Amino acid sequence: MLDIACLPAGKPAYRTRWTCPSNIAIVKYWGKREGQLPANPSVSLTLEACRTDTTLEVSPRGGEEKDRPYRIEVHLDGQPAPGFIPKIEQFFDRIAPYAPYLRDYAFVLHTSNSFPHSSGIASSASGLGALAACLVDFENACSAPLTQDNFLRRVSFYARLGSGSASRSIYPGIVLWGECSSVPASSDLYAVPLPEADIHPVFRDLRDTVLLIEHGAKSVSSTAGHALMKGHPYAPARFAQAREHVERLREILRRGDIEAFGALAEREALTLHAMMMTADPCYILFKPATIAVLEAVWQYRKETLVPLYFTLDAGANVHLLYPASAEVPVREFIATALSPLCQGRMIHDRVGTQGVRKAAL
Ligand code: DP6
Repeated sequence: MLDIACLPAGKPAYRTRWTCPSNIAIVKYWGKREGQLPANPSVSLTLEACRTDTTLEVSPRGGEEKDRPYRIEVHLDGQPAPGFIPKIEQFFDRIAPYAPYLRDYAFVLHTSNSFPHSSGIASSASGLGALAACLVDFENACSAPLTQDNFLRRVSFYARLGSGSASRSIYPGIVLWGECSSVPASSDLYAVPLPEADIHPVFRDLRDTVLLIEHGAKSVSSTAGHALMKGHPYAPARFAQAREHVERLREILRRGDIEAFGALAEREALTLHAMMMTADPCYILFKPATIAVLEAVWQYRKETLVPLYFTLDAGANVHLLYPASAEVPVREFIATALSPLCQGRMIHDRVGTQGVRKAAL
């Protein structure tokens, strides 16, 4: 149990700063059970360049204004951002059984993203990952420190309770969240990195160029989308398929089969959107430019045999996946054929070598 008496009253007691990467799923988490547990396992690539940087200041909370359960202040890029408070309150509610001290402290967050705020890139995975790391670091300062492995596991456990996909952002490389029979260490409660020895070098520095087709908030949030998988007529088949895809992907990653990887990534992406289009109520997050990009990618691959593939998140943006060896021709194709479809708005990223990381204050 955390010794909350370790921080003297009336002093800004603890400051810590952590950065956390974003991630893009290859096998998608889509549908959840009570308690932020996934309906199926998922596998993602942790990104290198897209990160959130959060400084957390924790100080003992005075006896005043206990009208709100928690005292939270958020600043984004130096500006007050009260719009994030409800999401953080929900996160605190979910981790409170494991972190009973939350009501006794005041929390001030200063956060910024390395990617444009309006880019449509999910900042919840990197944002909640960074905040979870700050909190576990605070706990570590107040009680017997956890080992590095247990520290990261606890961060992933907390991050999952904030946003499922955030559980995977804690680790670098290629990451699995959800119980999977062939990985004994896997769990629905936290993510685990796939061992580097199980990943062919071609995937360790895979490129991901994100074409930013839509900016601003999506018309249907991921959380609402997950809820629509309850009672969805195709849900049981989809969950079984995802489980099968995780096993198949592990084999593909070991073999270094980029073609099979691309085929699986594209099928997963279109299946995710098919689930949205066949939900009740049904909806579409594609934009015309999304479809134009997918068709251009297929045409390019057919004509050149260059291994360029795509995946999608729950939005209109397209993630272009390609090996480092194809970077020169793919970048040229993107610049000439795809850039006009996204008004030149894109982020060149790659599979990252860093998960959550402590930063200097
Ligand atoms: C399509 O993790 O954003 O990106 O747990 O409700 O916060 P919550 O949902 P979230 O869902 C991500 C869905 C996805 C697929 C994936 O990342 O696996």
